[in-house]
Amino acid sequence: ARPKVVICRDLGPAMPLLMERTDIEVVLWPEDRGCDRAWLLKNIKGAAGALVLLPDPINEEVLQAAGPDLRVISTMSVGYEHIDLPLMAQRNIRVGYTPDVLTEAVADLCVMLALMAVMTWPKYAWSPFTFCGPQISTMASSPTRTVGFLGFGRIAQSTLTRLVAFGVTHCIYSGSATSAPNPARDAALQAKHKLAALERVDLNRLASESDVLFVLTPGGKDTYHLVDAAFLQKMKPMSVLVNASRGTVVDSDALATALREKWIWGAGLDVVEGEPKINGDHPLVREPKCVMVPHIASATFETRMAMATRAIENLLGGVFGTEMPAELGDR
Ligand code: GLV
Ligand code: GLV
Repeated sequence: ARPKVVICRDLGPAMPLLMERTDIEVVLWPEDRGCDRAWLLKNIKGAAGALVLLPDPINEEVLQAAGPDLRVISTMSVGYEHIDLPLMAQRNIRVGYTPDVLTEAVADLCVMLALMAVMTWPKYAWSPFTFCGPQISTMASSPTRTVGFLGFGRIAQSTLTRLVAFGVTHCIYSGSATSAPNPARDAALQAKHKLAALERVDLNRLASESDVLFVLTPGGKDTYHLVDAAFLQKMKPMSVLVNASRGTVVDSDALATALREKWIWGAGLDVVEGEPKINGDHPLVREPKCVMVPHIASATFETRMAMATRAIENLLGGVFGTEMPAELGDR
C-alpha cells in the first residue's frame, strides 16, 4: 500500500507538489482554519508522516493515535516547541522544520517594528515636539545607538545587516547559556559590517545598554519570561523592544507596565503571550506605545511558498527514508 500522509493545513499553491504524486496517499484537513484535534487523532491512524503547524502539539497522544508506522513529523515553521523532541527521538521519528527560508522576511519585519515603535499616533495636528520619539538612524550630532539582540541566530544577524544601513555601529547580544561563544564568527561579522563593537554580554548589560532590543530566541521553557519586570526596569527610558520570536519570552503584564510607567519608550510585537486569542481589551492593544502585528513575520508569498516546499520535501524524505533538507537533531 502507498504510505499515507496527513496534511494539517491546505498549502495553497504548494499543494500540487503533494497531489501530483502517485506514490503517497494524501489525507488533507478540508477546512480553511486550524485543524481540529479530533480530526488529527482520527486521521493520523496508520500514517507514515504528518505535516503540521505551530498550533498542533505533537506529543504522546498523537503517537498513540498514529501507531507504529509513523516515521516523520514535518512542521511548516522554524520554531518547534510544539513538538516533544525527546519523545520523537526515543520512538525514532524524524522531525523536519523550515529554517533559513524565512530569515530575510522576518528580518524585514523586525526593522519595520523597530521603526514603527519609536512613533506614537498623533491625536491632533502636526506639532514640533509633542510626538517625537528616538531616531533609529544615527546622525553626526546624535548619540551612538547600540542595537541589542536577545538570541543571535540567523534572523538576528540578518536584522543587523539591515541596521548597518541605518548607521548602527555598536551591537551587543546574549546567547543561551548552553551555546558556546563564537569569537571567530563575531570578528568576521564585525569586520564585514565595519562595526565599532560587537560583543556577547550578560542579560544585565543587554538590558541596560541596548537602545533597540530585538528578542529573537527560540520559545519553550528555557526562555520563558526572560524579559520580565526586573529586565524591563533595567532598560533605558528611550529604548525600544521588538519581539518577533515567541510571546512567552516577554512577560506581557510587565511590558504593559513598562510602557505605561515609561520604563521604556515603545514596543513592536509580532508575537504576544496568549495569541491568537487577543482582543481589544488587551492592555498591550490599548497601549499607544505598542505596535502589534498578528504573528505574520514570515508572511510573504515567496517565503511561505519556500516554507511549504521545504516542509513537503522534509515530509517525503522522512516517509521514504531519504535525506530531509532540514532535519532536527542528530541521527
Ligand atoms: C513562526 O513563528 C515559525 O516558527 O516559523
Ligand atoms: C514635514 O512633513 C516637513 O515638510 O518637514
